[in-house]
Amino acid sequence: MATDPIGAAAGPHAGPGIEPPPPSLLVIFGASGDLARRLLLPDLFGLFLDGLLPERFAVLGVSRTAYSDDAFRERISDSARALGEAKFDASRWDAFAAGLHYHSADLENPESYPALRERIRSLCAARGIPGNIIFYAAVAPKHYVSLVRRVGGTKLALPSEDLPGFRRLIVEKPFGRDLASARDLNREILSVFPDGQVYRIDHFLGKETVQNLFVFRFGNGIFEPVWNRNYVDHVQITVAESIGVEGRGDYYDEAGAVRDMIQNHLLQLMALVAMEPPNSLDGDDVRGEKLKLLKSISPVDPERARDVCVRGQYTEGEIGGKKVPAYRAEINVPPDSSTETYAALRLAVDNWRWAGVPFYLRTGKRMARKISEIAIQFHPAPSQLFKDTSCGQLDSNLLVINIQPEEGIFLRFGAKEPGPGVCVRPVDFHFTYREAFGAKSTPAYGRLLLDVMHGDPTLFPREEDVETSWALLDPFLRRWREDPGRDLRFYPAGGWGPPEADALLEGGRDRWRQP
Ligand code: BG6
Repeated sequence: MATDPIGAAAGPHAGPGIEPPPPSLLVIFGASGDLARRLLLPDLFGLFLDGLLPERFAVLGVSRTAYSDDAFRERISDSARALGEAKFDASRWDAFAAGLHYHSADLENPESYPALRERIRSLCAARGIPGNIIFYAAVAPKHYVSLVRRVGGTKLALPSEDLPGFRRLIVEKPFGRDLASARDLNREILSVFPDGQVYRIDHFLGKETVQNLFVFRFGNGIFEPVWNRNYVDHVQITVAESIGVEGRGDYYDEAGAVRDMIQNHLLQLMALVAMEPPNSLDGDDVRGEKLKLLKSISPVDPERARDVCVRGQYTEGEIGGKKVPAYRAEINVPPDSSTETYAALRLAVDNWRWAGVPFYLRTGKRMARKISEIAIQFHPAPSQLFKDTSCGQLDSNLLVINIQPEEGIFLRFGAKEPGPGVCVRPVDFHFTYREAFGAKSTPAYGRLLLDVMHGDPTLFPREEDVETSWALLDPFLRRWREDPGRDLRFYPAGGWGPPEADALLEGGRDRWRQP
């Protein structure tokens, strides 16, 4: 095993204008879990290959499972290799892996913490890291509070004489399970870590296309003038997945689609689509505008919850020619579960820009295909000019921002079909990241980890964002808690969700897209 520090490739490789962040130690709680293995550490390796890590940087994985440093490295290398040749540079792996360390500890036992503190201290000393420590809570959410209290109790949450430097805490979603629990969690965390040092992570905000939405809207002159109720008929935000719960049944059955996806990813996307331009790119300005938007979403009358939200659960079906089981037959899911694996909502924004424009949000597991997109449907052009032609009803313009899997944007407009006479047909302008830039984008977790190392909170939801989102969803969650089977519809795996969701679309005029 090579012994160079993990960030040895930094500096000369960093892109123009991108300063590597200061030296730091990343302590990942829950390091034996899926998130660390499949996403965090492979993404860090990607940052290392791009020369974006600081020169002095190390990772300390902490979990109950007993691994040696080498066994931990081996485990991570297996999953990093599984990403494929293009992302795994074997010749550089050893240099990266030398900075990966592991400490086995029962995080529920307060007696584990003094030894953990000592390990952190000695690692910082050995690596020449001046006590800058980032903690990543990648444990099950029910352990967040005790973890944070114990980190605080061991004098790890604030700089000290033997460990000076900064402290930052990254908290994975879900952040609470309703408004009350999110408030409690915020209070607990903020009693230990100063507000500015808490990073509530939502990995969708680290996706390249999501950030491009900001540039698309505010870095171009021609879109913003039509980005309002005078031109936009409605907006559809879809995050569909073809996968099921992938062995996470115990977590998912407690969460469901609204807590797992809508409260965070989809509402954040909606905030970015609909927010006003901020005064600057400063974190406070951007987050302030996002919060204003979230606050202007009209609260849902609990009596009308059923009219604006459809929840569903998948039954068995077929995806890509393969039979897949029903949700209730998944591992660690009770056979009578009433958890929703699909949710669709119609929301209204009560402000001058968006009054009267419905925002439809939908997400589901085991849908026909994996696709995340934001579709802006414009009002139709008056068609009287073409009324005596064979065109029929003209299609209205449509702008689609593809978040994944094909990152890009397309605009649909009418074009004259060649030939005698006048016939208008819809055609598309296409932009894809792949064709335009060729280069791979920084994966979402990698991008966000880098931001935390730099101390840039812009892409991280604040306490109030999280609480405002929960406040919006609480009426639904309360209704279903009282009567879990209430309003639950079923849809076959491999489709586009329960047919009842069509009724959410207003006036029978709009339709859900089936991309
Ligand atoms: C996570 C959810 O936050 O996002 C998962 O917990 C979901 O259930 C995942 O599968 C989707 O993320 P991505 O980046 O694969 O679209």
